Amino acid sequence: MKKSIIIVLLICSFFQAKAQKREVQLLDTGWRFLNKEIPTTNLNQVDDSSWQTVTVPHDWAIAGPFDMTIDMQKVTVIEDGDRGAKLRTGRTGALPCFGIGWYRKALTISKEDEGKRIFVEFDGAMSRSKVYLNGVYVGEWPYGYSSFSFELTKYIQFGKENILSVRLENKEESSRWYSGAGIYRNVRLVKTTPVRVANWGTYITTPVVTDQKGEVNIKTEIDGDGAMQLVTEIYDAKGKKIGSAVANKKADGSATLEQIIKVNKPNLWSVESPNLYTAVSKIYVGKIQKDEYKTTFGFRTIRFDKDKGFFLNGKYTKFKGVCLHHDLGPIGTAVNFRATERQLVMMKEMGVNAIRTSHNPPSLELLKICDSIGLMVQVEAFDEWKNGKNANGYGEFFDAWAEKDLTAMIKRDRNHPSVVIWSIGNEIREQGMPEGAQMAKFLTKISHDLDPTRPVSAGFNNWMGAIKNGLAAEVDLVGFNYAPDFYEKKHKEFPNFTIYGSETASTVSSRGEYKFPVVASKKAWYTDYQLTSYDLETCSWADLPDFEFQYQDDLEFVAGEFVWTGFDYLGEPSPYNEGTLARSSYFGIVDLAGIPKDRYYLYQSKWSDKPVFHVLPHWTWPDRLNQKVPVFCYTNYPKAELFVNGKSMGTRQKDKSNMLKRYRLMWDDVIYEPGEIKVVAYDNNDKVVAEQIIRTAGETYSIKLTADRNTIKADGKDLSFVTVELLDKNGNLCPRANNLLFFDVSGAGKLKAVCNGDATDQTSFVSKYMRTFNGKLVVTVESDTIAGEIVLKASGGLLKPQEVKISAGN
Ligand code: GAL
Repeated sequence: MKKSIIIVLLICSFFQAKAQKREVQLLDTGWRFLNKEIPTTNLNQVDDSSWQTVTVPHDWAIAGPFDMTIDMQKVTVIEDGDRGAKLRTGRTGALPCFGIGWYRKALTISKEDEGKRIFVEFDGAMSRSKVYLNGVYVGEWPYGYSSFSFELTKYIQFGKENILSVRLENKEESSRWYSGAGIYRNVRLVKTTPVRVANWGTYITTPVVTDQKGEVNIKTEIDGDGAMQLVTEIYDAKGKKIGSAVANKKADGSATLEQIIKVNKPNLWSVESPNLYTAVSKIYVGKIQKDEYKTTFGFRTIRFDKDKGFFLNGKYTKFKGVCLHHDLGPIGTAVNFRATERQLVMMKEMGVNAIRTSHNPPSLELLKICDSIGLMVQVEAFDEWKNGKNANGYGEFFDAWAEKDLTAMIKRDRNHPSVVIWSIGNEIREQGMPEGAQMAKFLTKISHDLDPTRPVSAGFNNWMGAIKNGLAAEVDLVGFNYAPDFYEKKHKEFPNFTIYGSETASTVSSRGEYKFPVVASKKAWYTDYQLTSYDLETCSWADLPDFEFQYQDDLEFVAGEFVWTGFDYLGEPSPYNEGTLARSSYFGIVDLAGIPKDRYYLYQSKWSDKPVFHVLPHWTWPDRLNQKVPVFCYTNYPKAELFVNGKSMGTRQKDKSNMLKRYRLMWDDVIYEPGEIKVVAYDNNDKVVAEQIIRTAGETYSIKLTADRNTIKADGKDLSFVTVELLDKNGNLCPRANNLLFFDVSGAGKLKAVCNGDATDQTSFVSKYMRTFNGKLVVTVESDTIAGEIVLKASGGLLKPQEVKISAGN
């Protein structure tokens, strides 16, 4: 080899060795936690040996115990139609989420890190967080749903142990639902060189998108002095480099560099084919690489037309959306990738194409999953502005923080192709106040300045107020909460409004409960604190799914709907919110355990392309011999025939002239006799296409365990959701069985949570026992970090114990 070549190679490898890319360390293990106040003097000298050791994400309240006096609050909930204060219970889940929590974690930062810049990033901490390093105050961020970061560099003792302390405080009456408590999202330590891509420092748009060509516009915020070069490379989903651009920064100080990269035949992001791309931003000073930062993005177009609705990639698309709160049922608010994915996949399988993150910025995990499985997202900032709904709610912070919180949300989330709408508020009280329009204008401008590519919306319940005070005119999309019968009228009166249902339905039901007589009601209230699963009961302000469907079907200009809610959530147990045992919602299409209610199939029959055929109720009614037990069928087949013990009860087909019969097949006058019901579905040529039989169940005989996944990752975070069912001798579900079962998890994992979906159950979610609710419950098992086999055993009374094996691997 020639001498000169050797020298060049040596120089190259020297430069490569010197490349100083950022280091990102997840701060998940080894945290200490104390659920009470400590003095802030001498924070570093605190003896935390008696504190609990926890991993982050952490929700300090989810293990309970439930206590119906915890959130007993005398409040007026105007949105529920209250005229005066009422004594409410269960509003925030009856879980111990109020009070002060301290977290401490030791960080050893080596001498070699001297000269680097060091940041701590929080994806979210509930709430009023104050961060200290080595006893010195670093910064604070009150809104529990915002992501934020602080630079720690000047507080660090290099080559020594440093103590990161975080104080959180949740005040009573600070939320309308279970907020959770603690450092409930991920925390990272990030080390960079003095020059770096700023946090959330890339903004990627795709001004040109066709099947043939795409143009990517990348604005990169560079933090740091001196001359440097920015190289941005674009990779497709297979990791193939498909374009790049180089830009130079000459002057001192931070700067934003703009680059344009052309791409041939981009694979568009859509609900059906969520194609993703990655931009890799590399900073060089001379030849030495100083930083590398990755951003996922996609090519897609969105267009809202006030008369024609919404178009994704030029294709007319209605939002078949659901609102979701941030809790993960019995796992609480501590974000978990798999639990989030399970929720979103269940929604997608129901036919959902969009999620509204009611009423706050979501976890990063949610957006990542929506990007990759193809769900559009409306990201919402606030449930209240200055005139708060809660005595200790966001109102206190609005003036000082609204701009910072909204900026954090949009800068963090604006590269996600799944995000299609920004919402600046839900049912905010300023709808009826003179200052409303001005405040909306302020927030809309922030959103437009940070991201002119997406429309700004808000959900209105007092839309007359918001129209009168000019607020509605300040947003791009006017969201109606629970007012489908006004879409057409308002469209005519205000032809410039682009309209959609920001919150719809709010039907309430309990999985597997059926109430008689079968009648629609807006005032249902039963002494067992349950609601019918015939899907005919709503709160006073709300509607049945079918009521909304008609308007969505008949009005092209309405851009779609977001149903309240996809899943049951902790808190807000309407209508049982005054002195009952209820502590979680009844609104969900899926119950708190993650088991679909009947309604799931009504939406699926309407929204999904796959054949859906679901019959209700169960057929075990010893107490209703010779009495009426109506039978419903949720299906997208055109007609079906019901047989009771072989005798035809007639054929039903969808009937457009009746609101319910347009979407459901209903046999109202069926007289109960034990045995079996059979429903046979026909196509338009009267050919049999499906059949379902439900039999009267006998005594409970066996336990059936079904794991959603029998192989999971041994990463200490992955989950297997095991559905537990009680069956009779013939394998029929015992649909009223409420037996107490016991659970034991051994091997390479642990019991994470148990939940039966009964909104009134007071058993802790981390118990080793629970009653089934109408024959079912779900046990969640979490892996350890060591690979191996996990065994879940279930037993109860005289039933033969059963076990399921789950293998946790690397
Ligand atoms: C809406 C509100 C939601 C939830 C819902 C229940 O008015 O925006 O957060 O409270 O009612 O129906």
